[in-house]
Amino acid sequence: MKRPLRIFLIGFSGTGKSQTAPVVAQMLGWDALDTDTMVEEEAGMSIPQIFELWGEAWFRQAESRALAKASQRQKVVIATGGGIILRPENRRLMAEKGFVVCLEAHPQTILSRLATTKGTERPLLAAHNPLLRIQSLKARRQPFYALADYIVRTDHLTPEEVAREVVRAWRKLSGEAFAQPDRLTPAHDTLFPDAACVVETPSGAYPVYLGRGLLDRLGELLAPLAKRAFIITDATVMGLYGEEVVASLQRADLQVEATSVPPGEATKSLDTAASLLEWLTRLRAQRGDLIVALGGGMITDLAGFVAATYARGLALANVPTTLLAMVDAALGGKTGVNLPIAKNMVGAFYHPSIVVADLSTLTTLGERELREGWAETIKHAFIADPDLLSLLERDAQGLLALAPGPTEEAIRRSMAVKASVVAEDEREQTGRRSVLNYGHTIGHAIEAATEYATYLHGEAISIGMVAEAELGLRLGLTPHSLAQQQRQLLERFGLPTSATGIPREALWQAMALDKKGRGGKLRWIILKGVADPVVITDPPASLVKEVLDHVLGT
Ligand SMILES: NC(=O)c1ccc[n+]([C@@H]2O[C@H](COP(=O)([O-])OP(=O)(O)OC[C@H]3O[C@@H](n4cnc5c(N)ncnc54)[C@H](O)[C@@H]3O)[C@@H](O)[C@H]2O)c1
Ligand SMILES: [Zn+2]
Repeated sequence: MKRPLRIFLIGFSGTGKSQTAPVVAQMLGWDALDTDTMVEEEAGMSIPQIFELWGEAWFRQAESRALAKASQRQKVVIATGGGIILRPENRRLMAEKGFVVCLEAHPQTILSRLATTKGTERPLLAAHNPLLRIQSLKARRQPFYALADYIVRTDHLTPEEVAREVVRAWRKLSGEAFAQPDRLTPAHDTLFPDAACVVETPSGAYPVYLGRGLLDRLGELLAPLAKRAFIITDATVMGLYGEEVVASLQRADLQVEATSVPPGEATKSLDTAASLLEWLTRLRAQRGDLIVALGGGMITDLAGFVAATYARGLALANVPTTLLAMVDAALGGKTGVNLPIAKNMVGAFYHPSIVVADLSTLTTLGERELREGWAETIKHAFIADPDLLSLLERDAQGLLALAPGPTEEAIRRSMAVKASVVAEDEREQTGRRSVLNYGHTIGHAIEAATEYATYLHGEAISIGMVAEAELGLRLGLTPHSLAQQQRQLLERFGLPTSATGIPREALWQAMALDKKGRGGKLRWIILKGVADPVVITDPPASLVKEVLDHVLGT
């Protein structure tokens, strides 16, 4: 069996990768490379300086470039940074190009070695309790490290002994490993065994946790991500859950700052974003700190935008407390604020590092807010998941009453739809992601034409779905039975299926404005069947106007 002529050393900082690589190289008559050193050479500064000046995102990109470059060489032993295995593209490359060995060490060993190594984990030493930080960060990465072709425990070994183990493993095992190029890209559930789903994008994977009582465990889940957390929430949610969340984070040794903004869509503005950015600046938030977006979709959009833009990006944890945010807004990486004249016009693609949805929070949610969340779930069912659709049809009453079993199942399925569409088209480039905009072309116009004051987002989407099914019908694409089935389901969930009091012209103008902002084209998602969406651009204006008349009852 053919052996690969490259060995990658992965593992946490302080496990001896940089010291071991040259020794292995010498034993085999190869060269040694170190991705951290390559990045430092490219940048002309040290890793702590890179983190400080250009941020972790830049570092991760440069690290991937260094890995790709190193992998072009043959007969090399490549020491890598501790976080390199987090990116799927890096894992794929290492599996395709070589034999991957993980160096392991006890957190205590790592702590004592860290003072003398240069890697990206050095800042851990500055933590209030560095050992706890190493333990939790390492625990989070462990499922990735465990994917290695071979693991060497280095605690009581010299670099020579470790190197001999690596060479022995390479001789014996690398041929077989090399024959399975997908061995480092395992099923999601291996990486985050307790997650409800995982959002996997080219820039990384993040888990989505769903369950009851998770706010109480929030600290434990977030502690690996940072040592300082900035909670952004709205006043309503602060009153309900602020104390519990702060306490949970403090129990996990996180330093906590918290602020709240007024509830309501009007808060999702550039002005609020600016005041939050100033708040972070005053408190000297810095890279390595974490923004915790605690609330509904308004908060996850707003705080996500702040996280994306402050110092060009702070890590973000989304903790959705409305149904709509759980099934939709909190995952997928779209963040932003509204301009007075156009919704979501300013924003950034920026993914959270984790999503934690505590089902218990739904019990305090208003009835209208609950129903609007089901609107996006119904949308997910129609565009992608017939089983979810059956569940919604079978048990609408139970779901509206938040019956535990079906509610968790429906939310989990809805999250999975969103996660899989986003994974296929992270930045809405192939068109696949646009299916999530079903009901939104008209829905957004309804929101804008009523100045976001009459309808909740999900309510507007409900009307939008009815309208867009009607358009599909008139285009001869959507079967009558499907339009009927959708209308009945929306009605069972108490959602509006028509609008009143909006002049047709106002809707038409709102759509025209939207169209301008989207390069002159509006995409319409039309259902040919359940889980069978197609994208239509610029249907005849006369048909669209007919449809608007239809839902406006004019
Ligand atoms: N980024 C995306 O992909 C995406 C997707 C869908 C929607 N959105 C955005 O999400 C927003 C709508 O989300 P939303 O409906 O969650 O809005 P929201 O955040 O305004 O929440 C609705 C109301 O519920 C209150 N609330 C939140 N959690 C509560 C709880 N557990 N108990 C009691 N009250 C609670 C809030 O204070 C608010 O008054 C819109 O701005 C929309 O554009 C974004
Ligand atoms: Zn939506």
